[in-house]
Order: sequence, then structure tokens, then C-alpha cells
Amino acid sequence: MRIIVVGAAGKAGRAVTQLMGERGHDIITVGRTTGDVQYDISDEAQLARMWQHVGQVDAVVSAAGDVTYAPIDELTSDDFNAAWSQKVLAQINLVRTGLDHVSPRGSFTLISGVPSRDPVISATAAATVNGAVEAFVRAAAIEIAPRRINVVSPSVFTESLDDFGDFFPGFAPVDVADVARGFQKAIEGASTGEVITLP
Ligand SMILES: NC(=O)c1ccc[n+]([C@@H]2O[C@H](COP(=O)([O-])OP(=O)(O)OC[C@H]3O[C@@H](n4cnc5c(N)ncnc54)[C@H](OP(=O)(O)O)[C@@H]3O)[C@@H](O)[C@H]2O)c1
Repeated sequence: MRIIVVGAAGKAGRAVTQLMGERGHDIITVGRTTGDVQYDISDEAQLARMWQHVGQVDAVVSAAGDVTYAPIDELTSDDFNAAWSQKVLAQINLVRTGLDHVSPRGSFTLISGVPSRDPVISATAAATVNGAVEAFVRAAAIEIAPRRINVVSPSVFTESLDDFGDFFPGFAPVDVADVARGFQKAIEGASTGEVITLP
């Protein structure tokens, strides 16, 4: 398959790119400043140029989306706006604009995260936007068939425990290698509209 991976230089993105490469797929990596091609998917003009450059693919992967963690009384409207535009709207627009660039039975796999189903202190922005991404995926799935769409919703990564571990007391972390297998299930499997929770 020809697969485009947005956020391929990140922790999750690197693991997905490695696994899909080992599976023999042809990967195009994207980031704002990293990857084979550089585009910001939160900018619609850049997104249009990205599709023009990349052409047709069999699978679209997103492992991008920055969100601020802070107590609710410290989060600003700008923080929520940024979380919305980077994590939700950017991924929605990747799908919307990608519909004509994905093969008839191709797939989209987005990323969310555990706070939408299991909230923790300082993660209201993350919980909100992750829930929105998951709702979008469930709703889009019934309209874009036979193309498929799923979302991988991981716990805190083992590789991110130094940065985020204190926000997730008692949570089982997930290795990014296992996150990559969640993406593999979505890309090579048959499911659609699924929130793939990990671990
Ligand atoms: N870390 C965790 O423990 C954890 C747990 C659950 C869920 N998640 C979610 O998983 C996703 C990836 O997390 P991560 O820790 O792997 O992140 P990361 O290491 O910061 O990597 C993010 C990657 O996405 C690219 N990127 C970001 N915004 C972009 C944009 N607008 N357009 C194009 N590329 C963009 C970045 O490259 P450039 O800098 O070159 O743009 C970078 O390669 C995030 O949505 C995060 O919320 C993370």
C-alpha cells in the first residue's frame, strides 16, 4: 500500500512508520518541519498543496496534534482554540480534503487519547478534543464507505512517562510499538468507525 503518515517524526509516528515500512508498504512522511514533504495540516492552503504533491494513496495516517495540559482555571480560550485547530480541525480537514485522494477501499486512521474516556487533572482540553475526534470518526464512517476511518486512542506512552507520567497516576502506559500495531489493525484490517483503545 501507499501510505501517507502525518507526524511521522513524532513518538507515535516514528513507530507507525517503522512498522508499516517493515510490512513492505511504501510510506510518505509528513511534518511541518520534518519528513519527506513538509506541510502544516492545520493550514488549509498547505493541506491542498500537500494533496497536489502526494496524489493518490491507499491509507492516510495522522499521528499529530498538540494539546496543552494545565489546570482548568489556567487554560485560556486560546489554549482550547489551539487544541481544537491542531487536534480536531486539522485531522477533520485531512480527511475531508483527502476523500478524493484515497483509493476506493482505502482508509484513514486518526489519533485521539485516553483522557476522553478516563479524565485526569489538567486534561480538560485533551479530553474535549479527543472526544470530538472520536465522534467525528464514528459519524464519518457511515458516510464515506467503502472507504474506512478509525481512530487510535492510546493511554500515555511509555516513552512519554518522563513528560506526562505524573498526569496519569496508576494508568497502564502503552509502548509506542503497541500503538503502531493499533494503526496496523486499522490500516490492514477491515474495521471502520472504531475507536481502538490501547492498551
Ligand atoms: N505522548 C503520549 O503519551 C500520548 C498519549 C496518547 C495520545 N497522544 C497523542 O498522540 C499524538 C502524537 O503524540 P506524540 O507524543 O507522538 O507527539 P510528538 O512526538 O510531539 O510528534 C508529533 C508529530 O506531529 C508533527 N505535527 C504536529 N503538528 C502538525 C501539523 N499541524 N502538521 C503536520 N505535522 C504536524 C510533528 O512534526 P513537526 O514538528 O515537523 O510538525 C511531529 O512529528 C498527539 O495527538 C498526542 O495528543 C500522545
